[in-house]
Amino acid sequence: MGKLILPTTDDPVRIIHGDNVMVMQQMDAECADHGFTDSPFGVGAVHNTFKDEYGHRDFQAETSVWGREAYKITKPGGWLIAAMGTRLDSLSRFVYGLEDGGWKLHHSPLAWVRHGSFCYANRLPGNDGSRAGFSPKQEFELIIPASKGRVHNHLDRCQQDGRAPGTIAMSQDPSDGWPFFDINNFWPLETLPFIHCTRATLRELDYGLQSLSYTAMPKSGKYFQADKRNFHPTPKPIKLMCYLLALFTEKNDLIVDPFFGSGTTGIACLIMGRRCIGIEQRADYCRIARLRVSAWRRRVARARKAFAAR
Ligand SMILES: C[S@@+](CC[C@H](N)C(=O)[O-])C[C@H]1O[C@@H](n2cnc3c(N)ncnc32)[C@H](O)[C@@H]1O
Repeated sequence: MGKLILPTTDDPVRIIHGDNVMVMQQMDAECADHGFTDSPFGVGAVHNTFKDEYGHRDFQAETSVWGREAYKITKPGGWLIAAMGTRLDSLSRFVYGLEDGGWKLHHSPLAWVRHGSFCYANRLPGNDGSRAGFSPKQEFELIIPASKGRVHNHLDRCQQDGRAPGTIAMSQDPSDGWPFFDINNFWPLETLPFIHCTRATLRELDYGLQSLSYTAMPKSGKYFQADKRNFHPTPKPIKLMCYLLALFTEKNDLIVDPFFGSGTTGIACLIMGRRCIGIEQRADYCRIARLRVSAWRRRVARARKAFAAR
């Protein structure tokens, strides 16, 4: 990799195809404001075209290796906002792995209540090779805030009518007439820290991918899935990532996502006026991410222009 040209406000998203540790090793120390990650959950899951290769036996060590590089490239005062599953063996190793990498974990996680999921964890082996875990349908994921130095958050910015935010109500098509951040609804304060936001719709996932053909998704059993152009198995909803950017970052901040997947963090950065470097090891996911980001870049530009002309 040559010298990395940092994203600018005019060209805000850079996508790098490669191994995140190798790429981050070549990045300057303290060049990024924050990290956002959605790493494999370390449970050995196989999702149609994708195998979560991270064995949970080594999960802590693996997490500490990329965690340390992410720590190095983040400025003091930066957050690492990391999504993680709720299975206890991998969750605990993940948290200790981030600590081994230098991050402070004296924060509370948020829960993303995601509506609907597969009940697969029972089928995955535990540390001792047994398969009979207690794993009810995983209806929520954790969003773990880790920090470097003295940090700030923006809970106050996300208040409405004096109430702190705890939820996102998401329309079926979040992109319709929606150029800027907007939390539609809140749960009462007592329900903090739950975030309520549906998974990404098919329309959202495939936006910008007209040039790709459909990938057949598994249709066995009762878990019917529609064919998709975006065949990434674990895409995050855009609105969730926008909300997290509003909560933890400032305009023009540079966010690094070392597990970029189909590029949702990059799209959220475009919408929210942040800059982003996304690192993804698979060429096919990079292609999907590039197409999605370009389509959203045009869409956001159109929406901003229309908004300014009002
Ligand atoms: C859970 S997915 C991220 C999904 C993403 N948030 C989205 O909305 O599409 C994790 C991604 O990390 C990638 N990945 C895993 N190990 C990696 C590594 N060492 N370097 C770069 N990417 C990696 C996987 O290929 C996968 O696409």
